[in-house]
Amino acid sequence: MKTTYDVLIIGTGIAGLTTAIKLAENKDISIGLITRGKKPEESNTYWAQGGIIYVETDDEKIQADIQLASKNTSYDKAIEVITKDSSKIFKEILVDKAKTVFNSNDDGSLALTQEAAHSIPRIVYNTDATGKAIEISLLKYIDSLENVSILTELTAVDLITSSHHGVSIHQRYEEDKILGAYVFDQKENKVHKFLAKKTVLATGGVNALYLHHTNGLGARGDGHAMVRRAGGVLANMEFIQFHPTTFFGPIAQKRFLLTEALRGEGAKLLNPNGDRFMEKYHKYLELAPRDIVSDAIMTEMIENKWESVYLDITHESREHLSTRFPTIFKYLLDHKLDMSKDLIPVVPAAHYTCGGVKTDLWGQTSLNNLFAVGEVACTGLHGVNRLASTSLLEGLTFGYKAAEKILDELPNEVIYDEEKLKNWNLSKEHFDMSLINQDKMIIKHTMWNYVGIKKSRNRLLRAKAMVSELNTQIQKFYKDAVLHDDLIGLRNSVEVCYTIISASLRGHKE
Ligand code: SIN
Repeated sequence: MKTTYDVLIIGTGIAGLTTAIKLAENKDISIGLITRGKKPEESNTYWAQGGIIYVETDDEKIQADIQLASKNTSYDKAIEVITKDSSKIFKEILVDKAKTVFNSNDDGSLALTQEAAHSIPRIVYNTDATGKAIEISLLKYIDSLENVSILTELTAVDLITSSHHGVSIHQRYEEDKILGAYVFDQKENKVHKFLAKKTVLATGGVNALYLHHTNGLGARGDGHAMVRRAGGVLANMEFIQFHPTTFFGPIAQKRFLLTEALRGEGAKLLNPNGDRFMEKYHKYLELAPRDIVSDAIMTEMIENKWESVYLDITHESREHLSTRFPTIFKYLLDHKLDMSKDLIPVVPAAHYTCGGVKTDLWGQTSLNNLFAVGEVACTGLHGVNRLASTSLLEGLTFGYKAAEKILDELPNEVIYDEEKLKNWNLSKEHFDMSLINQDKMIIKHTMWNYVGIKKSRNRLLRAKAMVSELNTQIQKFYKDAVLHDDLIGLRNSVEVCYTIISASLRGHKE
């Protein structure tokens, strides 16, 4: 297996794939894309339902909408990048190169839908499976690129820094740079050194740390934890976004998303008595910013001891719903609900990580040679609460910008001496999977109950104490046990939880 590249990209969602596509324009550079998934499409992008914002040149309201959703905490320079650059990048990557199929109007123009907190319809979509259409088309395009290799079932364990290279502690302040990553090969059970002149993290968010979430199981903070261990800066880690409407069904952990576009197209939220309760909470009702709707649902559920509330889209016909939302329609039918006639039980679930690895507007992190793009990164665009359907656009735009910067500054010479880098010594002791599973469940319950939608200082302090003790145990266990993808994930999870809790405590001083 080839393990040295000009650029190493970890993660294969929209952000990592876009970076690879843009970089590949320079035929002289080699790009390695690795994923812990069995298939490259295993990413959160694949599961995105609603759509991706398309910013028309005369869209004067986008800036205000992003700021309204985030209570004026979004970084205006990041909004400016999205406003000025994203439609050109959308056209170049998705329309011209990947030829992604989106729903269109009779005259051939892109069909646009509405989601919460958007003042106009500006969301481009492919039925209710937009992410899948994007992911598959990008991967197909990458297949035609000779200088990009995609390798699966490889879990990044730690970033390789120049300290692994023998740089002294004094030199480190000036010279520390990222040289690639130690990567666990799930098939061969060994650790490879993947070396590169530039490394790009596109590892996604942390939402699978919560008991109820909408993400893939890989959303466990691998990238965040690696950066933290290498001494890099994370920002806004307490701003976890909860999606208001996921199906309250038998699969309690990975909850099935019911896209915001349903409410954008008229679905109402009702309590079990049939009352439309959002009137009590916000003038935009079901189309209020996501954090407000999730919080309102939780308030209703807690105060009244209800297990869920309901989503009602029965004003639409069966024909319309089965064509416009085919994935959801089928999923609900499989669960014995006809959404054109039945109310859908819904609860909020962890959905998106607004903070992350701090970057500038070119994806550069605080660590030399390391970039971060997509959900793992914190460009500041989302502030405390993300506007719906900005995430795919952020991944696309900043994935592209990072590639532009890398193309500009990629050195000709190799920056590492492989001989000087230590090999990874694998421990031998067998690990007990039931310990891992139990620790994971403790983390998920603690995060959901104490670090969830409704937080208090007391709950956060309790969570900190529990996670701190667990961290001590897991680090001991990690040191001695034979490496495994689940163990790598567990160590990362507990470290990232600690960061989220500490950041949350700063906002809950009393
Ligand atoms: C959804 O379809 O509601 C999710 C869209 C998003 O998270 O931006």
